[in-house]
Formats: sequence, C-alpha cells, structure tokens
Amino acid sequence: MNYTVMIPAAGSGKRMGAGQNKLFLEIGGLPILYHTVSVFLEDPHCEEIIIAVKPEEQTVIKEMLARSDKGKTITFVKGGGERQNSVAACIETYEGNGIVLVHDAARPFLDSSVIRKLVSTANEKGAAIAAVRAKDTIKLAANNVVQQTLDRENLWLVQTPQAFRYELLKRASDAAVREGFLGTDESMLVERIGYSVQIVEGSYDNVKMTTQEDLAIGEVLLERRK
Ligand code: CTP
Ligand code: MG
Repeated sequence: MNYTVMIPAAGSGKRMGAGQNKLFLEIGGLPILYHTVSVFLEDPHCEEIIIAVKPEEQTVIKEMLARSDKGKTITFVKGGGERQNSVAACIETYEGNGIVLVHDAARPFLDSSVIRKLVSTANEKGAAIAAVRAKDTIKLAANNVVQQTLDRENLWLVQTPQAFRYELLKRASDAAVREGFLGTDESMLVERIGYSVQIVEGSYDNVKMTTQEDLAIGEVLLERRK
C-alpha cells in the first residue's frame, strides 16, 4: 500500500551542540538527513516525499539529496519555529487524500517492516504510531521526590514514524492551530480530538540523533546494518 512521507528537517539541533543543524553531521561518512531520506527514496511504496527545511538550507539539502536521486518527487516546504509548525507546513502542501507518514529527519535507522505495519494499521484504523516498550522502571516525581512508580506493562516510548489517514491528520492539525495547542508529536493532536491511536511495536534501533552520544550509537548501528 502506497503512502506519502512528511519529514520535518528544519530544526537547529541545539542539544547536539554542533553549532549547525545536526542533520548535516555525518554517520559512516554520509549526512544524517541523507540516511533518513534514502529509506524513503528506496521504498517503492513511498509515492512522495515532503521535507520541511529552513529556507537558507534548502539549496545545500537539495544538492545533498540529488546524489541519491531515484526519480522520486521531493517537495520542499518552509519549516516553522517549532517542529509542529514544520509538520503543519507539510500538511498544507500535500494534495492527496491517502495515508501519510510523519517521520523525524533525525531518525536515520528506520526499518521498512515497521513502515509496512504502520501504513496498513493507519489504513485500517486511522492512526498508528511506532513505539517500543520501556526497558527501565519509570517513576513519576515532583521536585525530585518519587510520587508513583508507573506500571511498566503499560508504558511505551514513542517514536516516529506516525501514520494517519490524511483527513484525520489535517483535522487534528487544524484544530491545534485554531486552539493554539502545541504538542510534541502528531499523535497528541489526534488524541486530543478524541480519536484512538494504535501502537505498532517498532525497533530499538530507530533512535533519534539528539545528543553527541547518539552519534556514537549511530556509527555502531550503521556498521551492524552493512
Ligand atoms: N524540526 C523541524 N522544525 C523545527 C524544529 C525541529 O522541522 N522548528 C525537526 C528537526 O529537524 C528534527 C525533528 O523535527 O528532524 C525532531 O526534532 P528534534 O530532534 O528536537 O531536533 P531539533 O529541534 O533540531 O534539536 P534540538 O531540540 O536539540 O534543538
Ligand atoms: Mg527540538
């Protein structure tokens, strides 16, 4: 089943502390963003790629991705001040009415088997997100004092991709804009309009490159995939 992917790539990577957008940092000699987009360029089921970028980075990103041109349409849109604004810009640009995936540019190690599961679940149920089970015990605290130990059986660490029927994502995004709500993922926007979101078990490899330690993990993951 075919889908479109929306990739927010317009961040600054402050926590990486590289003094530039972290997506230009390299793993195995190629930029993080290149690895991420390649997954979709190489997936025959991915019909269209919409990437939100900072206008001043668009030219260099176009050149970077041209190296791996698979004849697939890549549409560039102007990113916003927050991740959610960047995704909203992608949503505005999309013209179809199918299944759309939102995937962080900062997660380069995505398996196509997870994409398959997300797309079919979203097609059937409307909304599906990738997540992995928490391995650690997670406690709720206030001012560094434990209030509660959460039941690990019910805890999931949520990732992207997150997959939706387009009309549902659009409706959720419009409601968030209208009501001035800012969430940390698209699922939150869909949850808050009262819609059930399905969890699809993903992979622990699908880490987000956020701080310097993640780059070292990324090198190991890439080596293992070869
Ligand atoms: N992103 C975006 N537009 C923004 C902020 C973030 O498109 N205004 C993108 C990032 O490029 C990244 C994804 O959203 O691919 C996930 O965000 P995150 O990991 O937080 O990246 P940054 O915001 O760049 O990093 P930081 O929060 O450390 O500054
Ligand atoms: Mg951020």
